Amino acid sequence: MEVRACAGKMDFARLWLGLLLPLVATLDFSYHHQEEMEVFLKNVAQNYSSITHLHSIGKSVKGRNLWVLVVGRSPKEHRIGIPEFKYVANMHGDETVGRELLLHLIEYLVTHDGKDLEVTNLINNTRIHIMPSMNPDGFEAVRKPDCFYSNGRENGNFYDLNRNFPDAFEFNNVSRQPETMAVMEWLKTETFVLSANLHGGALVASYPFDNGVPGTGTLHSRSLTPDDDVFQYLANTYASRNPNMKGDQCKNKMNFPDGITNGYSWYPLKGGMQDYNYIWAQCFEITLELSCCKYPREEKLSTFWNLNKASLIEYIKQVHLGVKGQVFDQSGNPLPNVIVEVQDRKHICPYKTNKFGEYYLLLLPGSYTLNVTVPGHHPHLTKVIIPQKSQDFSALKKDILFPFRGQLDPVPVSNLACPRIPLYSNLPSHSAATKPSLFLFLVTLFHILFK
Ligand SMILES: *[C@@H]1O[C@H](CO)[C@@H](O)[C@H](O)[C@H]1NC(C)=O
Ligand SMILES: *[C@@H]1O[C@H](CO)[C@@H](O)[C@H](O)[C@H]1NC(C)=O
Ligand SMILES: *[C@@H]1O[C@H](CO)[C@@H](O)[C@H](O)[C@H]1NC(C)=O
Ligand SMILES: *[C@@H]1O[C@H](CO)[C@@H](O)[C@H](O)[C@H]1NC(C)=O
Ligand SMILES: [Zn+2]
Repeated sequence: MEVRACAGKMDFARLWLGLLLPLVATLDFSYHHQEEMEVFLKNVAQNYSSITHLHSIGKSVKGRNLWVLVVGRSPKEHRIGIPEFKYVANMHGDETVGRELLLHLIEYLVTHDGKDLEVTNLINNTRIHIMPSMNPDGFEAVRKPDCFYSNGRENGNFYDLNRNFPDAFEFNNVSRQPETMAVMEWLKTETFVLSANLHGGALVASYPFDNGVPGTGTLHSRSLTPDDDVFQYLANTYASRNPNMKGDQCKNKMNFPDGITNGYSWYPLKGGMQDYNYIWAQCFEITLELSCCKYPREEKLSTFWNLNKASLIEYIKQVHLGVKGQVFDQSGNPLPNVIVEVQDRKHICPYKTNKFGEYYLLLLPGSYTLNVTVPGHHPHLTKVIIPQKSQDFSALKKDILFPFRGQLDPVPVSNLACPRIPLYSNLPSHSAATKPSLFLFLVTLFHILFK
């Protein structure tokens, strides 16, 4: 009764609040289904049109849009020197925390622009792409939310999207799904530098590789990239700021003392998204498992936001690690498709400059030799020292004049074209190794439960 008596006053107050704060987004801590999510994203795109850009990168099996909201000072297009960052959540439809976290992150970013120095700096110096759901069909298919397994993990054709990408170490003979293809095409459209992929069912930040061969360390139960120091740092950056990702963690599940693990050490998998990003898209991606329960009750969502907010922001900042710049020819034209790699950190598919001649290399402080190679010409080696205290919100800037005299043949920009298994082709595949059947059984079980 009392509530009813107050209703008039409440409306009045709300009206005043509405007039005073017309642009304050109101996102509650509940699960947002596709339609509600679309309404929210469209409202944000409309209310904050100068710093956001909403677009769909394709459709799910059942025809739902795969929305991406871009936040940045120049949200619609790349600007030279501004690195591209992304977050992707809910690729397993029943792992739902990440989906809501990203909606809250969007709200936080747009409402703090110009008010909070850190957020303003991030938006001024970074282009942030946020995809709250890569598997909207799976999310909608969940009948009965469950902590361990619900139908809805897979997409509308019952494929696990985190097993659906090409794999550099063994042939992944699966039918490529629309959601996977949409992401693969999306990766070609931007030079993404850093990314994370949000999951649930465990508490750990897992970094590449998820699959491997003896050459990457599988005989020692791990599979490490040449950028392992950077990946451990990235995973730590996230895990160390989330009070949940240390200590006791999830009951009856594997414990990770620092909250981080190499993907393969945890359990090997084929066709995962993080390996694909790192190998084919020049983008460092880690996998964040953010809740013991895959689909927790709504009442827990605000706690999850509070636990993850600092990590989500700090992780985006890491896109400014290392060194970046453009490669030019002697007449000052930017050179696309030039291989720019750090010596002793050769990537399976060499990292190349984009169509603006830009390169971005995530590195920790230290001294490195860059190897700049135009295919068919002698490599140009140049030293770079990444300072201990790097500038916030910008990697060290180093433009490179390629010391080439005379006519340089135009180099075709071949984006993601890369031989299938180039670097490790001569190494035996890990699947050839014998494994005890109990191990296989456990691996299968893990596949169902996690990542
Ligand atoms: C957008 O603005 C409208 C009208 O001012 C407001 O009602 C709505 O809550 C805002 N939504 C978001 C997501 O900012
Ligand atoms: C961010 O960019 C805006 C628009 O260019 C500018 O007015 C503002 O001073 C910048 N803020 C910071 C902290 O650099
Ligand atoms: C790929 O899978 C299809 C369907 O299961 C099968 O017919 C085909 O032989 C497989 N190809 C290879 C090369 O394993
Ligand atoms: C530099 O990179 C090119 C292309 O990846 C490679 O062929 C060459 O061996 C490298 N040179 C040095 C000195 O590392
Ligand atoms: Zn998952």
